[in-house]
Amino acid sequence: MKIRTGRLEKEMTDEAAVYTSSLDFDRFIFDADIQCNYAHTSMLKAQGIIDGDIADKILEALDKLAEEGFDALEFDHSVEDVHMAVENYVTKLVGPDAGFMHTAKSRNDQVATDIRLLLRERINEIEIGILEFIEGIIDLAKDHKESVMIGYTHLQHAQPVTIAHHLMAHAQSLKRDYQRFADTYKRVNLNPLGSAAMATTSFPIDRELTTELLGFDGYLENSMDGVSSRDFIAETVFDLTALCTTLSKICEELVLWSTYEFGIVTMADEYSSTSSIMPQKKNPDVAEVARSKCAIVNGELVTILTILKALPYTYNRDLQEITPHLWNAIDVAYDTLKIVNHMLLTVTFNTERCLELAGANFATATDLADIMVRECKLPFRTAHKIVGRIVNEATAEGLEPAKITSEYVDNVAIELGFEKLELDNDLIQRALDPLENVKIRNVPGGPSPEMVQLAMNNMNQFLDDEFERLGI
Ligand code: ARG
Repeated sequence: MKIRTGRLEKEMTDEAAVYTSSLDFDRFIFDADIQCNYAHTSMLKAQGIIDGDIADKILEALDKLAEEGFDALEFDHSVEDVHMAVENYVTKLVGPDAGFMHTAKSRNDQVATDIRLLLRERINEIEIGILEFIEGIIDLAKDHKESVMIGYTHLQHAQPVTIAHHLMAHAQSLKRDYQRFADTYKRVNLNPLGSAAMATTSFPIDRELTTELLGFDGYLENSMDGVSSRDFIAETVFDLTALCTTLSKICEELVLWSTYEFGIVTMADEYSSTSSIMPQKKNPDVAEVARSKCAIVNGELVTILTILKALPYTYNRDLQEITPHLWNAIDVAYDTLKIVNHMLLTVTFNTERCLELAGANFATATDLADIMVRECKLPFRTAHKIVGRIVNEATAEGLEPAKITSEYVDNVAIELGFEKLELDNDLIQRALDPLENVKIRNVPGGPSPEMVQLAMNNMNQFLDDEFERLGI
């Protein structure tokens, strides 16, 4: 059956047909389209809008098509999209009565429904992927609660933390990425079916029934909005960009950390490459590629927003061009999520090097200033000045933090016009010890092993709740 034979006298040119076709990416919504037709036809039957026997024949044909799969569809250029191809298939089996399937339905509400049906599944997959990644991170972190490493600001040594604390920072970020999807899901899982072309129908359809049959949480309450809104797509793709931002930061870190200069991690061979000319090389190619693929997702978001911008109500064929960008963004983000997960969880932390970096370069200096505040009641700014000078002079003399004595501190204090502080040598050394430094940061959110354990417990609870909510 040709859609064009009524109103139009001539076929579209091949060029125009190919150019405007959505068939390349309609393959993804094939199952959803059958589901949508199935629910709609069942509803038409239940409402007595179409004859029960005809409805049963249509449903049978849809079942058969579901079994045979997408390749059972026939395409020529008169077939604009998957919706027409499905209808043609049913027509071949049922005859002209198949046309009743399209009563009170338009491809406009149908495609919006199909996309939402598939998208909610894809969101679920990503949600599960994120939860599994967080689970893996906790597992890796739990053995590193006392493994001290350096934390950076401005990519300069800042203060000691632990490997566990750093890893759990990524877990927190992933948790928010997850929550964004969970929230978006609520707006995705709504039923546009029944909006028809844009103004519903005069047939007494039952939108609650199709909503229930399709497992939606509710239906869209305005038919014009139902067929034309795609903000749920833009929102999902933004969520993907946020996730990819988290992932790209992990990749960037692995690239840096695996350098000779940092020496913090050794990447697994399985996620490394070598050079065709330099035999000594071990390159973090997977992290680099993942880091760059995140840009694709950002690009898809901009493309989608740009298509949507200033579109007049209601359905415009422009909307069709959004869909492939959605699926591509999801594919890229999902694959990146998986590979970054596997890559991060197979690195080896070089804990000795981590400790060495944490103790070097006066990264513990804040604590030296803190004990001056505590023990000598100095204002923090004064202590900051004295310690800054200590670091300056010690660095110039090549003096290690472990060599700083009470006398050294006092000489600097006097030089700057302050009184002697007469700090205990032990106290100074403890303040400058990276592990001590970490342990006394025992406040919520802090890197002390106790606080990191608490954060892990909370995160585990979150995982349990969410796995249960998703029925895993
Ligand atoms: N392929 C179209 C899309 O993805 C289906 C809807 C076509 N509707 C229309 N009025 N031409 O949006």
